[in-house]
This record gives sequence, structure tokens and C-alpha cells, in this order.
Amino acid sequence: MKPMGPIPPAFADQHGDLVIAGKTWADWIEKAGDTPLFIYDFGIVAAQIAALRAALPAGVGIHYAVKANPFAPLVRAIAPLVDGLDIASAGELTLVSREAPGLPVSFAGPGKRDDALVAAITAGVTINLESAGEATRSLALGDRLGIAPRLAVRVNPSFELRGSGMRMGGRASPFGVDAEAVPALVAMIQRAGAEWRGLHIFAGSQTLDTAAIIDSQAATLALAGDLADRIGATPPLVNLGGGFGIPYFPGDRPVDVTAIGCALGDALASASASLTGASYAVELGRWLVGTCGVYLTRVIDRKESRGETFLVTDGGLHHQLAASGNFGTVVRRNYPVAVTHRMGEPAVDMVTVVGCLCTPLDRLADQVTLPQAEPGDVIAVFLAGAYGLSASPTAFLGHPLPTELLAGLPDNPNAIFTS
Ligand SMILES: Cc1ncc(COP(=O)(O)O)c(C=O)c1O
Repeated sequence: MKPMGPIPPAFADQHGDLVIAGKTWADWIEKAGDTPLFIYDFGIVAAQIAALRAALPAGVGIHYAVKANPFAPLVRAIAPLVDGLDIASAGELTLVSREAPGLPVSFAGPGKRDDALVAAITAGVTINLESAGEATRSLALGDRLGIAPRLAVRVNPSFELRGSGMRMGGRASPFGVDAEAVPALVAMIQRAGAEWRGLHIFAGSQTLDTAAIIDSQAATLALAGDLADRIGATPPLVNLGGGFGIPYFPGDRPVDVTAIGCALGDALASASASLTGASYAVELGRWLVGTCGVYLTRVIDRKESRGETFLVTDGGLHHQLAASGNFGTVVRRNYPVAVTHRMGEPAVDMVTVVGCLCTPLDRLADQVTLPQAEPGDVIAVFLAGAYGLSASPTAFLGHPLPTELLAGLPDNPNAIFTS
């Protein structure tokens, strides 16, 4: 038997039928018409944002990284609750222009093509520059368009976010401009007449180490102060990045956002004078939306093979790659899963839950113990709200796309938005 991660608190203490955003799993399947499907409970997202707001020092903005979950109704619902959006492509720019008009947008990510830069400059989006070459191209395109581009510099810091599942600092990197080269680049874009929007320092993703996040934010502020000194100007915005993780696996503990907020308040109070007047933001995806999602998939077959039991489902890694351990993890571990009509029942049956793809990688849960499940029963895979469908190889083997549903809007509890 192999352990699995903790079921998120909103679903953990249920008995009998799994209830998501006030409706049972069976209600949701009826609404979707079929399995597999994703349900996102927006009440959970709203609660995460409210908890973060309460923890952060006043005035520190919250930006949502759309890449975590670009489901249009979710982006539309989040927009009024956050202070900005982070996008990573021209496609995401089209999405946020439609779903969240008027909200400040910044555009990070390497390999921005000229047509994407043109769209961003035209839309007044802040481009987080990943290199000197991107700066030169943005300035030339701005000249051609007759628009002063809004440019911030993404800094490749000399430190990394400890404990991070995906490190994005402290090494040679396609992301950001090496810290020591930033003052000269800012001087160049200022001379060229661009609007310098500040600094973006994103050191890593998915860390559960509260102390590491606190240290990284303090180091980020110190670096921003030092760069502001050397630039000789206050950055309008210091984007402090994020990297807050969520518990996926056995033994994982949530980050302590209250402690992070307190420490950030102290660090801001003693920040360099060169930062006086700067605005601040954190940029998060997974922590805001990861726990809101549940993926439901039906058992098609139950088979024994050489002493092991397999529950073969109609879903798989083409929808929920992360649960198969093939997105951002080195060692495969089990996400929390459950039999939807047997919540809280004793786990009596050791099974491996697989998807319907012809690859041994397609395991949604490996040798876990669950209540007994038979063909026709439905398995819930939790923690499907971030880097789920949009981070999965949906075209592989030509299976249909799953339905996505958003519900649980606090001011509109009966509304359901579907894909
Ligand atoms: C620039 C940038 N911002 C935000 C994020 C979102 O990170 P997370 O979903 O871990 O909060 C990422 C993730 O890779 C990123 O690269």
C-alpha cells in the first residue's frame, strides 16, 4: 500500500455522498451530462483570497497568475477580487481582455513573439522583460506603433526559493535578467522613452516552507532596494512573486499566510529608503485556486492482474496530468482520491486507479486503499483546481474534452457556469 495526500479541508469530513459547492457528485454529473468533468467551487477561491487579504499588510496587491487555471468563468469571477492579473501568452491576453477588462495586467514569460508584444503594447499591458533582447524588440515595436511601452524588468535573483518544486532563481536561467545587469537595462529603457513600471522577482513555485517564503520575500525586498539605489529611481511596482504551495502529498502542511503577512509587514517597515513610494504585489496561482477543483471520473472496468486490482476509469492524464505525477514532480506520489458515494467509509480495498490511455504513466492513484468501488462508481481526484486541464495533453489519443463547471459564487450561489 502507498499513502495518499490529505483530502482538502472543504471535502475532508464528509460522509456518504461527496458534496461540492452544495451539490452531490451525482447532481454534478447530471448537470454535465457525463463523466469525466471538473468542478470548481468558487467559494473556496473567494475564501483563499479573503484569508490572504486579511494576512497581507495593507496596500500589498494580489495578482492572479492566469496560467494556474484559465477557465473563463473562473477568471471572470476572480477579477473583482484581485488587483491584477499575470499572463504568459497572447492567448491569455485575449482571455483577460474579454473576461477582466480594466484590470491591470502584466505579461511574463520567455519567448514572447513580436505579434504578442504588439498586442500587449497596444492593450497597455506591462511587459515583464525576460531579456535585453526582448527590451530592444519591445522598444522598436513601441516606436513603430507610436506608443511608449510599459516595461518592467523581471529580475533573475542570485537566490532561489528554498523547498520550491520549481526553482526560478539562483542559477543561469531563461527567466528574467541577471540582477547585476538590471540597472543598465532600466537606464536604457528609460532613455528610450518607455514607461518603466518596476521590478518583478519570481523566485519559485509550490513551496510549503513558510520560513523559506519569508526569507525569500525579505531577500526580494533587499534586492529591490539595492537595485533602486543603483538605478537612482523608485520602482513604481515591486512584484514580490509568490510560490506559496498547497498540500498535495502525505505529510504536507499548509503554508502559514498569517506569519508570511506579519513578516512582510516588518520587512516593508524597514525597507530601503530608495523604495519609498513603491507599490507592492504578490503573484499567485496555485494557492488561490488549487484546492477548489475536483475531477470526477467513472470506473469502467475492475480487473485483477498478477495479484493487483486496477480500477480503470474514463479519465486520465490527458485531463489531469499532475495527478499522474508527470507535471513538476520528480518522484510520483499519490494525490488524494475518494470513491464519491463512500466518503468517510473504511478503506478496505487496495487498488490502482488508472486512466484510459495506453501508457503505464496513466495512473491517477497507485496502490491506495479505498472503500470498495465497482464499474459505474465514480472516483474523485482532489486538488484539481490548478495546473489541471490546461496543463494536460488533451489531444493525446483523441478522447473528448471533459466538461468544466464553476459554482459556489458567494453572491450568486445558484449560478453554474459551464464550458
Ligand atoms: C512568472 C510566474 N508567475 C506566477 C506563477 C504562478 O505560480 P504558482 O501557481 O505556483 O503560484 C508562475 C508559475 O510558474 C510564474 O512563472
